[in-house]
Amino acid sequence: MTSSGRGNFGSRFAVVMALAGSAIGLGNIWRFPYMVGQYGGAAFILIYILCLVVIALPIFFAESIIGKSTGSDTFGAIEQIAPGTGWKNAGYIAIVASFVVLSFYSVVGGWSVDYLLRACTGGFRFSSGEEAAAVFSQMNSSAVEPILCLIVFLGLTAVIVSAGVDKGIGRFAKITMPLLFVMILLIVAKSLQLPGAQAGVDYMLKPDFSKISGKAIAAALGQAFFTLSLGVGTVLTYSSYMRKEENILYAGVWSAFFDTVFALLAGFAIMPAVFAFGLAPSAGPSLVFETLPVIFSQMGAAVPIIFFISILIAALTSSISMLEVVVAWLVDQKGLSRRAATIAVFVCALALGSACAISSRVFSACDFLTSNVLMMTGAFVFAIIVGWKMPKADVRTQFTNYGTSKAARATFPVVWFLIRWVVPVMIVAIAFTNLF
Ligand code: TRP
Repeated sequence: MTSSGRGNFGSRFAVVMALAGSAIGLGNIWRFPYMVGQYGGAAFILIYILCLVVIALPIFFAESIIGKSTGSDTFGAIEQIAPGTGWKNAGYIAIVASFVVLSFYSVVGGWSVDYLLRACTGGFRFSSGEEAAAVFSQMNSSAVEPILCLIVFLGLTAVIVSAGVDKGIGRFAKITMPLLFVMILLIVAKSLQLPGAQAGVDYMLKPDFSKISGKAIAAALGQAFFTLSLGVGTVLTYSSYMRKEENILYAGVWSAFFDTVFALLAGFAIMPAVFAFGLAPSAGPSLVFETLPVIFSQMGAAVPIIFFISILIAALTSSISMLEVVVAWLVDQKGLSRRAATIAVFVCALALGSACAISSRVFSACDFLTSNVLMMTGAFVFAIIVGWKMPKADVRTQFTNYGTSKAARATFPVVWFLIRWVVPVMIVAIAFTNLF
């Protein structure tokens, strides 16, 4: 159901910024730097880049090929390629997964709204980790505050999405992504000047190959998956808005490049400060909402404001990509207007998000279900559809842009082999290691 009225990204820059915006998010800030330190510094970075290139990027290409060639939402795209088969259920899985990720991710987005407001109103004076932890748990002990902030965050997400693909999503990403890099660089500069910052740099970079275990490799792969927003139709949906002349190889490589650079910068912004203040690195909410507030409150009033604006932007450009998957389906398949579709998903995500905000068990269940089950399933299906369902000639035509891209022509045999064999085998292998 390719309707010409569904919109397009107006430029190559908009495509790359939107995709990079989806990729760059909380995963880069609260998980990547910690993982690097935990699993052997530069040695882990090498493994991570390998996972990115060998597994994550081929999945990105698979999703992108499906989206761009059909010009349809996740469900419609699969139905076009494998009509009348059970494969379309995979489209539903991806759309549900996107919705679930949107719901719990927005809770964290809400917290960043809360902390930004605190930072702006001078409520950012923490002298110890315990004090900051107390504020965090106090915020979450009342249901009202997190839900209000969730409404604000989801509301912002909905406003951007309902403004349209190019005028909303594309324009927002084009403006905020460069800003995000400038802001993180400012914090890196400030952080590296702290006495004792070197310990944080060592934590990030010192190669220690003895820490590379099966667990480290699984962690690297999981991170590569989550950070490129794979397996839930995000890349597929964004690619369905690419103009014909857009290059899939180019879009994938640049998004992965910006994503990795940002993750490293986040590490150099955070870890030197963590070590300079004698605190312990950690991953997850406690890093961003407990450890860093203590540090930032001692680095001047501007630092926490800049940092929480960065978090908010990073989270928003990701949440809009999740919302868009569901909205595109409602618009393409159910005939809703973009605005009506956005409002409908907003209301539903607010319901599930509120449940996540109130109950950490619901939150963890949503996180576990999507990260460990649905994303992997989706990625597997996308790889099988491109590797085994689409005729090879069609895949080549799409990937090489009708033979016009020299780099894509040169890399196609490798990409084809990775999508067809390596990706499915690796996903099954990981599913087994995770389950048993
Ligand atoms: N990639 C984002 C991050 O690192 C999160 C994200 C955006 C995502 N879209 C997604 C995760 C789709 C899973 C599925 O924070």
